[in-house]
Amino acid sequence: MKRRSFLSGVAASALLPKAGLLLAEGGPSTTELARDETFWAKVAARYDRTDGIVNLEHGYWGKMARPVQEAYLSATRMVNQQNSYYARREFDKDALAARDRIAGALGVNGDEMAITRNASEAMHNLLRQHRGLGSGDAVLYADVDYPNFKATVAWLAEARGARSIELKIPSRADQDMLFTLYRDALDANPDLKVMLVTHVSNQHGLVLPVARIAAEAKKRGVDVICDSAQSWGLLDYRLPELGVDWAVFNLHKWIGAPVGTGALYMRRGSLEKVAPYPAMKDPENTSTEARVHLATTNFAAILAIPDALDFHLSVGAANKEARLRYLRSLWTAEALRMKHIEVLGGLDEPSWSGLASFRRVGESSRQDAIDLQLQMEREFGIFTVARHGLASGSCVRITPQVFNTPADMKKLVSALQAL
Ligand SMILES: Cc1ncc(COP(=O)(O)O)c(C=O)c1O
Repeated sequence: MKRRSFLSGVAASALLPKAGLLLAEGGPSTTELARDETFWAKVAARYDRTDGIVNLEHGYWGKMARPVQEAYLSATRMVNQQNSYYARREFDKDALAARDRIAGALGVNGDEMAITRNASEAMHNLLRQHRGLGSGDAVLYADVDYPNFKATVAWLAEARGARSIELKIPSRADQDMLFTLYRDALDANPDLKVMLVTHVSNQHGLVLPVARIAAEAKKRGVDVICDSAQSWGLLDYRLPELGVDWAVFNLHKWIGAPVGTGALYMRRGSLEKVAPYPAMKDPENTSTEARVHLATTNFAAILAIPDALDFHLSVGAANKEARLRYLRSLWTAEALRMKHIEVLGGLDEPSWSGLASFRRVGESSRQDAIDLQLQMEREFGIFTVARHGLASGSCVRITPQVFNTPADMKKLVSALQAL
């Protein structure tokens, strides 16, 4: 296997020749395309489906499309065959090319980006290596943030003698409500130094108005760490639109790269407050990569990143967001009319994403959500996941992928009616 053959990608665009070009060519709008079952059937044909169940739990990690999987397997074979002769001589250059593809797709500079194994590694390094926090300072997170990240922010505060504040957000909210809640918290806590803001919540897919919140934080000198783990690929955006200095990403969710791929972004000029990884040197504070130490890692997973981006872009980032929003709306529109079901997530379209949650009215304990997930699986053949950590209680998350169909969503609606 020649290295060039997978570095240049499997030419996913050749498999879906016009997928990313329909708009430019005066084809249907993303909204029209979102309902075009012929188009999405072609996309779905590039994925293997889960056997034995309707899988509506794709917020965990994203399945690789077949061309990406093939590139990954080819890379695995090549790395194994060539071993250290490849890894010692050529991997660094290829990893740099993958890093630059990530940066390019997000609209930032290569040196502002570092590849990590997941969003958690990026977040943990940012927090553990943050050197601008001390006693008398405060940190902020919200109930909608990722449970482990809330715990790590609270740990950081405790370790540095700082105060931590948890913002509680209603189970459904719109952009203005969310902005007002964060702005009021900034006003009420002038000792704030660091805040965590999640772009898309893992619990119910709520989209936070990150750019508006970050602008307020910046005015007050508060560092924002943006958790974009669930958002990149689910939503179509470029990183500068968010206006944050630091952000963490997964490529193994909605970008569809192999499991074990994530990224850390640090804007040029913002590195001084975060120390390099222990024992790494960056005297000029110019290297985001010095904040991470990957050590021996899954070479092939990194080599397949450009292939995943190729496939993602060939479907079209905006098309994908619109399709996922459409599939979500097929069940939320129905569920919102059911008296026994409470839907969690957005109140206005910008606050919704492709994923959302529900529970039976009045049943919000951890055990209620666990039981409901099991009932959905055993009685209705629908796989979901129980989510915990919201101030309003636990819920069951529904996360369709691009290869799910309106028929899958109809099956979900029938199950909700029968609950
Ligand atoms: C919002 C959010 N943040 C962070 C993570 C952590 O991702 P990972 O386990 O890949 O580091 C997840 C994973 O589900 C998530 O949804």
